[in-house]
Amino acid sequence: MTIHDLAARGLHLLDPEDAHGVTIAGLKAGLGPVDHAVEDAILRTRLAGMTVTNCVGLAAGFDKNAEVPGPMLHAGFGFVECGTVTPLPQAGNPRPRLFRLGEDRGVINRMGFNNAGLDAFAANLRRRRAPGPVGANIGANKESADRIGDYVTGLKRLWGLSDYFTVNISSPNTPGLRALQTKAALEELLGRLAEARRDLRQIGADNRFDYPVFLKVAPDLADGEVETIVETVAAFGLDGIIVSNTTISRPESLQSSHRAEAGGLSGPPLMDLSTQVLRRFHQANDRDLVLIGAGGIASGADALAKIRAGARAVQLYSAMVFEGPGLIARVKRDLADRLRAEGFATVDAAVGTG
Ligand SMILES: Cc1cc2nc3c(=O)[nH]c(=O)nc-3n(C[C@H](O)[C@H](O)[C@H](O)COP(=O)(O)O)c2cc1C
Repeated sequence: MTIHDLAARGLHLLDPEDAHGVTIAGLKAGLGPVDHAVEDAILRTRLAGMTVTNCVGLAAGFDKNAEVPGPMLHAGFGFVECGTVTPLPQAGNPRPRLFRLGEDRGVINRMGFNNAGLDAFAANLRRRRAPGPVGANIGANKESADRIGDYVTGLKRLWGLSDYFTVNISSPNTPGLRALQTKAALEELLGRLAEARRDLRQIGADNRFDYPVFLKVAPDLADGEVETIVETVAAFGLDGIIVSNTTISRPESLQSSHRAEAGGLSGPPLMDLSTQVLRRFHQANDRDLVLIGAGGIASGADALAKIRAGARAVQLYSAMVFEGPGLIARVKRDLADRLRAEGFATVDAAVGTG
């Protein structure tokens, strides 16, 4: 256990949101861990043309305002997703809105897209010296009269500043947002984004002419929705799907007294559900879309389970709340060892193997 892992445990004496604030401040002050290990080439991959030196990324929600992508890449992540950012700053839901389910190693949050808005996010990205890919997870303001327009605004504003985009329509904490996952709404959203992207490609900011765009989905999808989402994402030229966001379901097994709090559940209690949904997406994916697996990863075995279910890369957040940042290097080492033990030469070779 590293000094940073001990610090993470010490932070549990604080309210969870205060602890998060202290963590971000520490990372900004340069107090974060640095993973000095040489990156194991077995974990290297490409995601829609974007090279990542390792396939373990930081999920959205940890760095909502793009304040610390550099420190999180130094800590060992292969890519870092910042946001969700909305066009206008917004306060989010009243506190408390973040709960640790200690007995279950889970987290429930109903933050409600608290963030400093696109201006601050763009300014932070402009200042960044990040040694790896940084994505922007974009969303809509709660009070917006044109939620779809908010996504277009985010894409336009951050084009050339981030290495990829994630269209987040799966937060359970903005009422009505997940209705954008239904066919007609998704077609309108992705249609307007595709149009904006076509125009932006002409600009070629940063001497690059295109950036990957992913859709992030909930794990709570009815039969048939998976197939519709795959078809629609492919039809409008998006590059892939992140499976998944937090769940509104509550497994029977939860022990913590916080289990009935409203919001999205994440961490190990989400692992099985999100992996099953990922597998459904993989089975429906006849279009060569990139799938990224998130939900409950706390070990190299969990990461490998996502990859075998069809993910080309993975993301994690909640397990780090309990284990500290040393978890990142442990997951990578363990994943690399397991890939070798199972006879895979590269992580790509293990994708979708069951
Ligand atoms: C406190 C917290 C805030 C989150 N905020 C966001 C967010 O703003 N946007 C988003 O797409 N996902 C958000 N998520 C979801 C994570 O990105 C991830 O999809 C989910 O937690 C499952 O991964 P995990 O079990 O490794 O945490 C948040 C999760 C947590 C715990």
